[in-house]
Amino acid sequence: MRQINYDSVAEFYDIYALADYDVQFFVSEIRKVKGPVLELMAGTGRMSIPLLEAGAKLTCVDGARGMLDVLARKIAAKGLHAELLCRDVRTLKLPPRFELVVVPFQSFMELVSEADQRAALKAVFRCLASDGRLICTLHNPAVRRAHVDGALRVVGGFPAGDGTLVVSGVEQGGDPLVVRHQFYELFGADGQLAWKRVLRMEFSLIGRDAFEAMAVSEGFRPVDLFGSYERAPFEPMTSPFMIWVLEKRRDARRRPHCEAPEREAGKGSDRPRPRRTVR
Ligand SMILES: C[S@@+](CC[C@H](N)C(=O)[O-])C[C@H]1O[C@@H](n2cnc3c(N)ncnc32)[C@H](O)[C@@H]1O
Repeated sequence: MRQINYDSVAEFYDIYALADYDVQFFVSEIRKVKGPVLELMAGTGRMSIPLLEAGAKLTCVDGARGMLDVLARKIAAKGLHAELLCRDVRTLKLPPRFELVVVPFQSFMELVSEADQRAALKAVFRCLASDGRLICTLHNPAVRRAHVDGALRVVGGFPAGDGTLVVSGVEQGGDPLVVRHQFYELFGADGQLAWKRVLRMEFSLIGRDAFEAMAVSEGFRPVDLFGSYERAPFEPMTSPFMIWVLEKRRDARRRPHCEAPEREAGKGSDRPRPRRTVR
């Protein structure tokens, strides 16, 4: 697996990654937890900082040193404390002490192959205390796929120093791998282009059935599936997100996994189903 080169954008990630639609959801989840919480793919701490401010005993893992350096500076500036680990989530080995593991911002989709996704789920299983929970967030392929059409979309223009950072992107593929070229253009106060960069990103559209089958075979029991951060029930054709709440099964036995059927998102995996299997 080739990881996205987040180090190349770490110093200006916070200028454009301003989303906060998921923060209240995670803050309310960590308030239910007394023990240690593990945040995977934490980046520069868009989510970590509000979780720490809400009192989480947090360990943050990310594979990009540059992203964690930014997070470390933010934590120090605010007088907070967290354990920061620069590790690959697929090979992460930590004692089974975490009551909750979270993967915010649909970052799990950046683990593009089934082998990588399973490796990460195995790592989460190892880190969780018995009865611990994983909250894993994904985009709903049925909705997200509409943006995978080769059109250039502007994310926005953001004040940067005395200029403006314009971020835009083009997405292609989607079966299930999406290749996104994300463009960064910095314009000075005089309107002149100061520099331009491109970041190649890859992520996979993961169907509901495929994820559920994979998680179950890796030892998890689905507890809830929300379709939005306002906790709306998941609607296969219209929900923007799949927010999975999974419990580590105490009786989980390692068994050889069967390939999850219908890996290709959208080919059966997102069809409406008459009943919720998730309770
Ligand atoms: C979209 S960013 C999200 C960062 C942060 N969670 C947020 O909400 O802004 C995805 C992050 O996942 C990290 N990442 C991607 N693949 C990884 C892997 N295999 N192991 C550890 N971190 C990884 C990247 O370095 C990046 O910081």
